[in-house]
Amino acid sequence: MNKKFYLRQVNDLDHSWLVELHNDPLVLKNITNPTPITLQHHLKWWETIDNKKEIRNIFCIDNQRVGFCKFYKIDYINKHCVLGADIHINYRGMGYANKMWNLMLDYCYENLDLHRVGLTTAAYNKIGQHVYRKVGFKVEGHIKESLLRDSIYYDQICMYHLKNWKREVR
Ligand SMILES: CC(C)(COP(=O)(O)OP(=O)(O)OC[C@H]1O[C@@H](n2cnc3c(N)ncnc32)[C@H](O)[C@@H]1OP(=O)(O)O)[C@@H](O)C(=O)NCCC(=O)NCCS
Repeated sequence: MNKKFYLRQVNDLDHSWLVELHNDPLVLKNITNPTPITLQHHLKWWETIDNKKEIRNIFCIDNQRVGFCKFYKIDYINKHCVLGADIHINYRGMGYANKMWNLMLDYCYENLDLHRVGLTTAAYNKIGQHVYRKVGFKVEGHIKESLLRDSIYYDQICMYHLKNWKREVR
């Protein structure tokens, strides 16, 4: 039977899972603040989210939580936002990232009526860059030496995608 892939809103039962996902070593390595969080910290922070400018969704396959999708800095006037997404370690390396990113792009262009999306990724995040290129993102520049890890400064790479660009959908 065909699997059902979809995005849904975060509910109260998701928060422990989100903390577990956030504290995964590869997720921490690839985000700007590598400090693990507690559930308490997470819930406090969750209350501060500006829902007019940010949306967070869970990427599901059938009824399973698989990934966390973040839509930041939504600017409805100029029609753009910034995206980020992680896949839980139990589902990584299975080819689901393309599906997740295409659902996120559909959501931006069809539901939010945006024209452009951007993202920033660590220069060493080769899997991320591979996935982003495959769904059609292009590099627009480097933020030089802006990520400090183990006393080394790494670049962050900015990528963007426009509404009418062709994408590889799998
Ligand atoms: C980035 C992330 C969402 C990708 O999801 P995933 O489940 O690992 O990715 P998939 O299995 O769907 O696809 C991985 C692709 O990268 C390729 N890949 C694997 N290792 C690679 C490497 N070292 N260099 C380049 N490409 C690589 C795979 O071959 C596959 O390509 P294909 O689709 O052409 O076959 C996931 O790895 C993740 O959550 N990582 C930790 C957090 C993170 O990096 N978040 C993003 C921050 S910007």
